[in-house]
Amino acid sequence: MRIDIISVVPALLKGPFSESIIKRAQAKGLLEVVVHDLHEFGKGKYRQVDDYPYGGGAGMVLMIEPMVACIESLRKKRDYDEIIFMTPDAPVLNQPMVNGLSMLNNILIIAGHFKGIDERIREHYVTKEISIGDYVLSGGELAAAVLVDAIGRILPGVIGDETSALTDSFQDGMLSAPVYTRPVDFNGWKVPDILLSGHHKNIDAWREEQAFRRTKERRPDLLK
Ligand code: ADE
Repeated sequence: MRIDIISVVPALLKGPFSESIIKRAQAKGLLEVVVHDLHEFGKGKYRQVDDYPYGGGAGMVLMIEPMVACIESLRKKRDYDEIIFMTPDAPVLNQPMVNGLSMLNNILIIAGHFKGIDERIREHYVTKEISIGDYVLSGGELAAAVLVDAIGRILPGVIGDETSALTDSFQDGMLSAPVYTRPVDFNGWKVPDILLSGHHKNIDAWREEQAFRRTKERRPDLLK
């Protein structure tokens, strides 16, 4: 899978893609993430990418010309299955959406900044809009990083243990059961006996029951 990202602050995305899982996914050739600086398509000597909003009001708006020039230059090289705009005024990301996106070949993500992007880009280019939660970030870069991480980690072959991603919270619409590792007794805080029993059927049943209980207590909305 290939993911291109358009950003006005590409440096924000250096860290998230050069460490851990996403680094491994790229090293294994399972994922390619390329960040493009919108300023390369900026207007004039100062590579301007934003301007004042028509009608007045606070904040700057990303202009249509640099964005269209950038998108078109990328579209010349490949067809995109989705052009995604990260924005708080959109449906909130969840695991089924991540699963669906993980099956695509080419994704272009636009990380907005300032007050927003010229609406005409959303109307004429963007095919999907995604929020990562009901709060406002200073830009879409961190939201894009969240989306890429969520997609990257479930690509087949990225996580060593194939079953691990499938037993995540949310994969079956429920939170995960608690997990423990050594030591079995830490200053009197014990690991539940059932997990030491070696009886896999009972362990699975216990985990299911725990997952259900947790979901009911913490996220009853998921059970609806
Ligand atoms: N850009 C700013 N806030 C955002 C959010 N909550 N989700 C996605 N993109 C954003």
